[in-house]
Amino acid sequence: MLVYLNGEYIDHSEAKVSVDDRGFLFADGVYEVVRVYDGRPFLMEPHVVRMKEGLRALQIDTSCIQDLEQVAERLLRENGITDGDATIYAQVSRGVAPRKHAFPPDCTPTIYVAAKRFNNHPTSYFEDGVAAITVPDNRWTRCDIKSIALLPNVLANQAAHAADAFEALFVKDGVVIEGSHSNLFAVLDGTLITYPKSNYILAGITRALVIELARELGIPFAEAPLYWERLGDVEELFLSGTTTEVMPITKVDGRPVGIGRVGQVTKRLQEAYAQRAHPTASVSA
Ligand code: PDD
Repeated sequence: MLVYLNGEYIDHSEAKVSVDDRGFLFADGVYEVVRVYDGRPFLMEPHVVRMKEGLRALQIDTSCIQDLEQVAERLLRENGITDGDATIYAQVSRGVAPRKHAFPPDCTPTIYVAAKRFNNHPTSYFEDGVAAITVPDNRWTRCDIKSIALLPNVLANQAAHAADAFEALFVKDGVVIEGSHSNLFAVLDGTLITYPKSNYILAGITRALVIELARELGIPFAEAPLYWERLGDVEELFLSGTTTEVMPITKVDGRPVGIGRVGQVTKRLQEAYAQRAHPTASVSA
């Protein structure tokens, strides 16, 4: 597999980063995951915009990713990824320097990009729904930055796996705000809601698409908090994300969501999402 590292296209086995890289020492960097359908990056532009916002927050020059789209396309081409599901992973760290907390002068960012085939989740996850658990949100207050510092997310997701659940939902001040690697939507009192865009969540690219699709479909929508104590009243619950797409949750902490089956709002949004992802595919009856 060919990957991109600091201006070069090399075999994955040859791609090496220094132990003095600040990504390794401090998690001083940002990343993106872009979905690829049939060889075409999906929603590449907003991913690039978000990565630039992250780089600006870290005071890293955004020009280091000016060729990202071309790099991604060359990686897809040269790795023969022209069909099926895949992802582009892109990561920028501040670069290599002796270990000191403050920014080193004249540091060249380390840029890594890889295109990989993606084994999508089993169809049953999308058709029947998955289980989730709730966990306290012990992250920092800049979750809007897509930082490579993901330890709380890793620990939360591991707790979900240990409980035979697909996702861990972070609860902050009594509000269920997002998943460890996905955003969260609920249908409550007939309105689709998701936690407001803020520094407490990652504003997902898929989240933005779901909101756009809901508006197109005329589904009542509001950015509003989902209080943990109202989980029992929720009619539908689903996750959104690059690797998660629109995934229904039918069980939280062992209790069924609504009637315990995938709801109509979720199904309509799944269909609308699939049409955007595969615009040329014929719609089966
Ligand atoms: N995760 N919230 C968190 C904490 C995330 O890590 C992600 C994405 C999302 C959804 O964002 P988007 O729709 O832009 O993928 C929300 C990626 C896929 C990951 O870490 O692998």
